[in-house]
Amino acid sequence: MPLNRRTFLKVGSLAAAATSLNVLAEPEQAPAPKSANDTIQLALIGAGIQGQSDTRNALQVPGVKLVAAADCYDGRLTHCKELWGADVFTTRDYREILARPDVDAVLIATPDHWHKQAAVDAMKAGKDVYLEKPMIHVYPDGPEIISTARSTKRILQVGSQRVSSVAYAKAKELLASGAIGELNMVTAQWDRNSSIGAWNYSIPLDASTETCDWPRFLGSAPKIPWNPEQFFQWRKWSAYGSGVAGDLFVHLFSGTHFITGSNGPTRAMATGGIRYWKDGRNAPDVLLALFDYPQGFNLSLRVNFVDGGAESEGFIFTGSEGTMEIAGQTVTVARVPREKEPGYTVSTFANEMQKEYLAKYRQKYPDTPPEGSTYTAIEKFSAPKGYSDSVDHFRNFFSSVRTRKQPVEDATFGFRAAGAALLSNMSAEKGSVVKWDPQTMKLG
Ligand SMILES: NC(=O)c1ccc[n+]([C@@H]2O[C@H](COP(=O)([O-])OP(=O)(O)OC[C@H]3O[C@@H](n4cnc5c(N)ncnc54)[C@H](O)[C@@H]3O)[C@@H](O)[C@H]2O)c1
Repeated sequence: MPLNRRTFLKVGSLAAAATSLNVLAEPEQAPAPKSANDTIQLALIGAGIQGQSDTRNALQVPGVKLVAAADCYDGRLTHCKELWGADVFTTRDYREILARPDVDAVLIATPDHWHKQAAVDAMKAGKDVYLEKPMIHVYPDGPEIISTARSTKRILQVGSQRVSSVAYAKAKELLASGAIGELNMVTAQWDRNSSIGAWNYSIPLDASTETCDWPRFLGSAPKIPWNPEQFFQWRKWSAYGSGVAGDLFVHLFSGTHFITGSNGPTRAMATGGIRYWKDGRNAPDVLLALFDYPQGFNLSLRVNFVDGGAESEGFIFTGSEGTMEIAGQTVTVARVPREKEPGYTVSTFANEMQKEYLAKYRQKYPDTPPEGSTYTAIEKFSAPKGYSDSVDHFRNFFSSVRTRKQPVEDATFGFRAAGAALLSNMSAEKGSVVKWDPQTMKLG
């Protein structure tokens, strides 16, 4: 058996391993590629709603095993053992997981304010990382995550699963092939008309400072007394979450950037407010934002937690010769060929002028049957029933872990999506236009 990290590093006890983490030098070499027969040992950091759902998806990829989980609420650690076996190692302190030599990769699904620290700590401990979106909570997180991925030679993939979707791949191919002509506008929305949609997640009946590690949850956030709402519904407060921009716009940016090949917008203007959910949250429940893209199109985004309409997530890409709509995992292209003649508006002119104008017009544009200008060809592409882009996103991640090739959504892509999304919060707060350089990933 070849010597690998797991067989080479034997640490006597976890306590010893945890202590030794602090003195481990940053890994300078990437691990050797793994064969398809090697099992990838995965650990979960942040075993909440998405962490558990991600783990289910990750374990559908052959050759992947969950060996450990960290969380700040004991009930979720208990449930990890119920779901994946009593031998899954559980802890409140993720550093104990990072010190384990039997962990190859970690899946980080903590609240946003922990993303950077957990990802950087994991990469420095030699682990590859699947990091949930939004990659950043504040702008300085971006360069730190990117540079740590580079210096440690670890794989870091961000968790906007649409980037691995077959439907989005089809949309990208269609746009590139000119299916809708020249792209000039993208509109997208992710509306939710429900209490759960507005982040009012259930608080367990045993929630207390005994069962929840409140100081660890707070981390770098302002120290405040125990607050179960803030622990379990953290998205509602900017100390931990990034509002609808970081939660939902970021998916729309990942999709837009993947499909168009753009690195991001140069200017953003946004407005919003807390219109309905006046429950103590400080994150708006309505947010509208507009962006300029240097490729010559505009993007408009909307999230609305308030209206009486249906929940919806979708895009419309408008081109010079049609539209391409994405709804869920279905792409619909409506091709509307450009008109062959410009038309006329002469009916208000004097009769003689109308006659003369029309005669000249028809010389230039001979009368043709009306086929063409009103013709709309509709084509529809749907992912197969039961298709999961999340499973494909994990398939792509584990493939990178094995081959050491850059993942489909690396840290730079993740920063460009999250950095663009957070412009909306900044613009709405300032009440003014904000600028961003999508190439250098710096605020203007
Ligand atoms: N890709 C997607 O479609 C998608 C969907 C939902 C959520 N997410 C992302 O997943 C992340 C988690 O969201 P969620 O809905 O699962 O939240 P959640 O509150 O259900 O779970 C977060 C868990 O992290 C734990 N935690 C907090 N600090 C920790 C720490 N220092 N160490 C270990 N565990 C810690 C909490 O105890 C909690 O159980 C968020 O960043 C969110 O944006 C992504």
